[in-house]
Amino acid sequence: MSSILVWGKTREIVAGALPPGISTEEVSTFSELKAELRAKRSILVLADASHLEAERDAVAAWIKSGESRLSLLVGVAPMEEADELVRRHPYLDDVMVRPVTAMRLRLRLDRALDGLNSRRVIQQLDAALARKSQDLHELNNIGVALSAQRDINKLLELILAKCRAITASDAGTLYLVVRGKDQAAQTGDRLKFVLAQNESVPVSFEERTVPLDETSIAGYAALSGQIVNVADAYQLPPGTPYTISRTWDQRSGYRTKSMLVVPMRDHQDTVIGVVQLINKKRDARTVLRPVALVEEAVIPFTSVDEELVSSLASQAAVAFENTRLIQDIRNLFDSFVRASVTAIESRDPTTSGHSDRVATLTVALAEKVDALDAPPFRDVSFTRDQLQEIRYASLLHDFGKVGVREKVLIKGKKLYVGELLLLRQRFSYIKRTLEAEHLRAKLDQVTAGQASPELLLQMDRAHEKGLEEIEQILRMVLQANEPTILEEESFRALMDLPNRTYTDGEGNRQPFLSMDEVSALSIRKGSLSEKERREIESHVTHTYRFLSQIPWTGEFRRVPEIAYAHHEKMDGTGYPRKLAATEIPVQSRMMTISDIFDALVAWDRPYKKSVPVERALDILRDEARGGKLDLQLLDVFVDAKVYERTLPRAGAPAELAR
Ligand SMILES: [Fe+2]
Ligand SMILES: [Fe+2]
Repeated sequence: MSSILVWGKTREIVAGALPPGISTEEVSTFSELKAELRAKRSILVLADASHLEAERDAVAAWIKSGESRLSLLVGVAPMEEADELVRRHPYLDDVMVRPVTAMRLRLRLDRALDGLNSRRVIQQLDAALARKSQDLHELNNIGVALSAQRDINKLLELILAKCRAITASDAGTLYLVVRGKDQAAQTGDRLKFVLAQNESVPVSFEERTVPLDETSIAGYAALSGQIVNVADAYQLPPGTPYTISRTWDQRSGYRTKSMLVVPMRDHQDTVIGVVQLINKKRDARTVLRPVALVEEAVIPFTSVDEELVSSLASQAAVAFENTRLIQDIRNLFDSFVRASVTAIESRDPTTSGHSDRVATLTVALAEKVDALDAPPFRDVSFTRDQLQEIRYASLLHDFGKVGVREKVLIKGKKLYVGELLLLRQRFSYIKRTLEAEHLRAKLDQVTAGQASPELLLQMDRAHEKGLEEIEQILRMVLQANEPTILEEESFRALMDLPNRTYTDGEGNRQPFLSMDEVSALSIRKGSLSEKERREIESHVTHTYRFLSQIPWTGEFRRVPEIAYAHHEKMDGTGYPRKLAATEIPVQSRMMTISDIFDALVAWDRPYKKSVPVERALDILRDEARGGKLDLQLLDVFVDAKVYERTLPRAGAPAELAR
C-alpha cells in the first residue's frame, strides 16, 4: 500500500474518499514532516500552502540540502492562489489545486513513482560516474608516484601496496619473471618471488624462485597472459591446470580465499611479472583475525578490480622497466668511471687511490655541510643525485693527467732519469780522459829520459787533485738535482760549468754541462721547469675537455664545471682560470680541501715526503687564513673530523692506507 504524507489537514486537501490502496499520514509541523520522512520515506508529500509559507526559508534550505530527494513535494492551494504558490515556492515538484480528487491523486502518485525511479537511476549513474572518476584519479596519482620512484625495491613495494589498496586486498605477493639462458625458447624461465605483504599475519620473506609453468597460479597467469580471478582458493573448478598450495596457510594460520592474479606487461607487451592479490575485504580496514572472520569479511574480486589492477599492473611494469633501465645505465656509467680512474692511476702508480680518497673526503664533507642547520650553511643542501655528482667530479678530477707526458707527470728530480744517467757517464768519461792524459804525460817524460821519481810523484799528486775536483763538481750537480731550494753559491758554480770543457772521442772540446742541463738544474724550487709546471697544470683543462664530451644527464650536468675549478683559489691566484671566490662552486671548494689534504698526507710520492696529519691540517689552516681556501668549509672538515675517513685504521696494512 502506498502512503502519502500530508502536511496539513487531509480532509481540507483531499476531496472525498482516498483511491483504493492508498493511505495518508498527517503531520502538522515541519519537524514532524522531516522526522516522518526519515522514518518512512513516503513517495509523495502534499503540503498545504499556508504551512509552506510559514516555513518558506527552512523548506527551501531543506530541499537544497538534498535530504528530500527520495520524495516528491507537491504544494496544494485553492485555484486563485495556485500561481502565487508556484511563484513563492519555485522548488516545489508540482502544485495541485485544492481540493484534490481521488482520480488526480492516483495519477499524481503514479507520476511521482515514475519520476522518483528516474531520479534514482540518475543518482546511481551519478554515483557510478563519481566512482569511476575517483578510480581514474587514483590511478593517475599512482601512475605519477610510480614513475617518480627510482629505487627498485621501494618501487616494487609501492606497486604491491597500491594494487592492494585499490582493491581492498588483505594480502599480496609480487613475482618477477627471470629469463633463462635461451631467451627465444623461453626454457629455463623462472618466477622470482620478490615481495609479500599481509595485513593480518606477519610474513617472513625469503627470496626464491619457482619454475615458470602452469602448475602454480602465478605461473599460469604469466604464461597465459590472462587475469585469473578465483572466488575460493580451496574450491577450484574441476579441470583447473594449477593448484594452490595450502602449506603457507597451515603454517601461518591464515586462510587464502579470494584471489586475483594479474600479469604485468611492459611496453612491448611482454609479461615481466605477476601481481597476486589475496582476500578482497568488504571493508579495507578489517583485520582477518581470528581466521574464521575470513568467511564473513572476504568477498570475491569484481570485474572492476580486474580492470583497475590490470591497468595499474601495466603502468607498474613500465615504471619498473624504466627504473631498471636507469639503474643499468647508472651501473654502466659507474663502471666506466671506475675504468677511467684505473687509467689515470696506472699512469702514475704512486698516486694510486688518490681519486677514490678525494671522492670519499669530498662527499663526506658535503654530507656534513648538508646536515648543518646553522649559518653560513643553512641554505646549502645536496640531494642524493647531487652527492653522486660530487662523487663523479671527484673521481674524475685528475683524469686530464692522461694528457700530460708521463715523464713530466712522475718527474721527481730536476733532471729526467735518462738525462742524469748520461751526465754520470760523461763525468766518468771525463775522469777516464784525465787519467789517459796523465798517463800519456808520464810516458812522454819517461821516453824523454826526464822522469825523475820526484817529478812523477808530483804529476800523480796533480792528477789526483784534478780527479777530486771533478768528483766535487759531480757532487754539487747531484745536490742541485734534488728538488730542494737551490743555494745561491751552488747556483753560481752551476752557471760556470758550460765554460769548463773536456775533449771527446773525436778530439772536440765539449762543455761539462749543456745549457739545457744548467737551466734544468738551476730551477730554484721543486723539480719542474716553468714549462713543465704549465704542462702539469694543463691537466685541469684536459679534465674539463674530457668531461665536457660526456652527455651527462640532467642531475649530473655540473660534473665538468665542478672538476674544472679544483685548483682555483679563493683569492683568485689559482689555475687555470684564476676565478674569483664567488665564481668557484662550493662543491669545487670542498674538493680543493680534500685534494690538498690527500696530497699532503699521501704516503710515498717520489718527489714529496708525506706530512703528519696534524701538520697537514696546519698547512691547510695557513692556506685558508692566507685567503686561498674556504675557511668555513675547512672548519667543518676539521671539526667534524672528515679527514679521518681516509686515514689508515689502527692495524690496517699501510698499503690500504694510501
Ligand atoms: Fe689536480
Ligand atoms: Fe688531485
